[in-house]
Amino acid sequence: MSSLLIKNATLASGQIVNIFIKDGLIYDIGNKSPLCDQKIDAQGQSIIPGVIDPHVHFRVPGAEYKEDWQTGSKAAVAGGVTTVLDMPNNQPAITTQKTLDQKRRLIKNQSYVNYGLYLGATASNLNELKTVSGIAGVKVYLGSTTGDLLVTDYQIVEEILAETNQIIAFHSEDEECIKQFSIFPPRRRAGNFQFSNIAKRHNQLRPEECAEKSTGKIIELVKKTKKRAYICHVSGQKEIELIRQAKDQKLPIYAEASPHYLFLNTQSAIDLGNFAKVNPPIRSEVSQQALQLSLSSGLIDTIGSDHAPHTREEKEVDYAQAPAGVPGVETSLSLMLNLVNQGAITLARLVELMCSTPADIFKISKRGKIEPGYFADLVLVDLKLTYEVKNSKLYSKCGWSPFSGRHLKGVPMAVIVGGRLVYQKGKIFGPPGGCEVF
Ligand code: NCD
Ligand code: ZN
Ligand code: ZN
Repeated sequence: MSSLLIKNATLASGQIVNIFIKDGLIYDIGNKSPLCDQKIDAQGQSIIPGVIDPHVHFRVPGAEYKEDWQTGSKAAVAGGVTTVLDMPNNQPAITTQKTLDQKRRLIKNQSYVNYGLYLGATASNLNELKTVSGIAGVKVYLGSTTGDLLVTDYQIVEEILAETNQIIAFHSEDEECIKQFSIFPPRRRAGNFQFSNIAKRHNQLRPEECAEKSTGKIIELVKKTKKRAYICHVSGQKEIELIRQAKDQKLPIYAEASPHYLFLNTQSAIDLGNFAKVNPPIRSEVSQQALQLSLSSGLIDTIGSDHAPHTREEKEVDYAQAPAGVPGVETSLSLMLNLVNQGAITLARLVELMCSTPADIFKISKRGKIEPGYFADLVLVDLKLTYEVKNSKLYSKCGWSPFSGRHLKGVPMAVIVGGRLVYQKGKIFGPPGGCEVF
């Protein structure tokens, strides 16, 4: 294989180094300049490990018209993401070894980034969950959302936690609570139901208390079973408080924040209509602020984009008919780099949230850090450059972003996956060479 030298790159610590890559691995970090096949001058740029996004929906199999693995993984690499963990709410849902292997065959040789796959839980597939190997984790949907996966019986959830040795990732919204609010719309309760603002309306129909309820139950079950739980897309202030209490008790609970809850609220999403319809819903400014603060306090462990593309046509219908979900894998790193530039978090904290902690939680070996012997998954970023998010420039097949029009300071300039330069200044270089990481 080939060798690559990245010269004069600034680590998150501030140290300027040359990184020598050989046979896909980081070989040396220091000041050497050995002869090699390819050189990149990274003067003035920062280097971070490739982002590991623990939560994407690349829609294979069954909804490739929204996104296919090539477009999804191109979007990832353009956004500085080098490993994705993909959710099982496909058509068919991925709930057996057989459907998992079929999905694997479809993805093979299609991916520009590395990947891992989740297996979905149902009320009756415990045996599959117990015997499967090589997965990112088990996904449990406690509330209904895109797809047909749902487990509403907490007794079954307890069995899943107790009897499997996988990390269990939760879509945490309590189904019974969601149903209650759809039968008794809050219009009557609150008296100020605003039809003009879909984000607000959706948040009133699936309020924060539904997520609190299920997160509270997950914490109880973790206390009982001592097993590891990963709460996807934490969104509300009280849910964060519950996580604080669980972490104070040293329970193995991990919390993910998604960019749309960090950078949108029911007020700022007014103009987005159904393009801000997502589960759980976009929350109030108070919850948004609480979530941003939890990034530095350590209550939030990871950033997962919950990249959930739907076509424009699917979104441009009445509120009730529009599917929930927003894309995000392509913009998550830049949004977070912008936060670094605003002084809200350090670049070192960003690296923990987006690279090293996801690797630790999901036990992805030799990725998420810049160290000799680690895989050379790396991103060069220009922290001083500002760019505008433009729908027309996106690689995602859906062709839109809720962050379109934003000016973000901090841009991924070059992305290396397994020692190979796959993205540079807007261009992607094939063929797809990503591998499965589990
Ligand atoms: C996701 C999707 O479209 O697959 N939608 C969403 O609103 N977040 C499913 C999910 O993660 O809940
Ligand atoms: Zn979800
Ligand atoms: Zn999701």
